[in-house]
Amino acid sequence: MDLGVTLLTGIALCLLVQFVCFLFADADLTLLWATLFGSKPETKLKGLVVWVTGASSGIGEELAYQLAGCGSRLILSARRVDQLDRVKLHCLERSNLKDKDILVLPLDLLERASHEAKMKTAIKHFGNIDILVNNGGRSQRSLCLETSVDVYQALMELNFLGTVSLTKQVLPHMTQRGSGSVVTVSSVVGLAGAPLATGYSASKHALQGFFNSLRTELTEYPRILISTVCPGPVQSQIVQNAFTEEVGKAIPTAGDQQHKMVTSRCVRLILVGIANGTKEMWIAQQPFLLFYYVWQYAPTWAWFITDVLGRKRVQNFKAGLDQMVTGIPAGSDSQGRPVYGAQGRHPPPSCASLPAGSS
Ligand SMILES: NC(=O)c1ccc[n+]([C@@H]2O[C@H](COP(=O)([O-])OP(=O)(O)OC[C@H]3O[C@@H](n4cnc5c(N)ncnc54)[C@H](OP(=O)(O)O)[C@@H]3O)[C@@H](O)[C@H]2O)c1
Repeated sequence: MDLGVTLLTGIALCLLVQFVCFLFADADLTLLWATLFGSKPETKLKGLVVWVTGASSGIGEELAYQLAGCGSRLILSARRVDQLDRVKLHCLERSNLKDKDILVLPLDLLERASHEAKMKTAIKHFGNIDILVNNGGRSQRSLCLETSVDVYQALMELNFLGTVSLTKQVLPHMTQRGSGSVVTVSSVVGLAGAPLATGYSASKHALQGFFNSLRTELTEYPRILISTVCPGPVQSQIVQNAFTEEVGKAIPTAGDQQHKMVTSRCVRLILVGIANGTKEMWIAQQPFLLFYYVWQYAPTWAWFITDVLGRKRVQNFKAGLDQMVTGIPAGSDSQGRPVYGAQGRHPPPSCASLPAGSS
């Protein structure tokens, strides 16, 4: 065999292996590579001070547990103090951390005037902040034509300005030390578009733009990581807490969560990404992950897909078929409390919910 044929065979084999890997992938290939060959969170994050917003439920709660397991010291923030106390207790039970290693710091992202004092309290307690995880936020389930502008304002105030405000408090501290990480949980809809989420998607696009630009301003600080995380659907309380057509109007019922990625897997991937200095993480099961790649590399095809599936999703929403009207979401205990982080197999995600349902 001459050299050319050997080379082509090698390339074809490599592509075949990549393709097979991709079929089973639940994150972008850079992140998956890091899970196999990169630094382990347990080594890299041990002893670091990590501030997690939205730590009272869902992804933030699971972040707290896994970070505690890694030996990180924690600042847990959200509005509901009772839930933060519960999360702290579980963290202490599951780790070797001591009471002083976890600070419950109640915080409302909307109360921007309070953020400086919160940051000072955190610094006073631990002396420094190594990682800020901007995770707190809310989603949306409503059609643009039916949605009040107040909802758009509320989404931008919370998801965008609240996050920017806290970041601006913590960042000077990091530039002074010359190191640190600001990790922001965006979404697949921070990159792509999806029906029923015009305001939510706009707020996450705003975050992507902000942090991508901020990264370019910080090139003289190579030890500061600006990272955005773009999960697809993940099990949490995001749907129950979503904005609807009017501020204050609750969503009637949250649908089945079972097709979504298990919270613990999403969080493990986030921690691997942080430990390996990943600037952007795409985290989703197939076929959602495929959609990220199509959106990025073949937008014309992506628009075709979103046209077809978007139409179906809007029709379902208008017909009231969007949520399973069970009253008790799947993955709940007998009292209707959602159960997250359960291991085990889940049915594959339905193509009909792509890209909608991608909070
Ligand atoms: N789950 C998904 O499918 C998915 C997909 C992509 C991205 N995300 C993003 O992941 C992040 C976490 O969401 P989740 O899925 O874990 O949903 P979740 O279970 O509803 O958690 C949201 C968290 O945000 C906090 N929060 C809400 N309003 C706040 C405010 N005004 N001030 C401070 N904290 C506030 C909540 O705590 P309190 O109510 O106690 O304040 C809660 O801890 C969000 O940014 C979301 O956009 C989620």
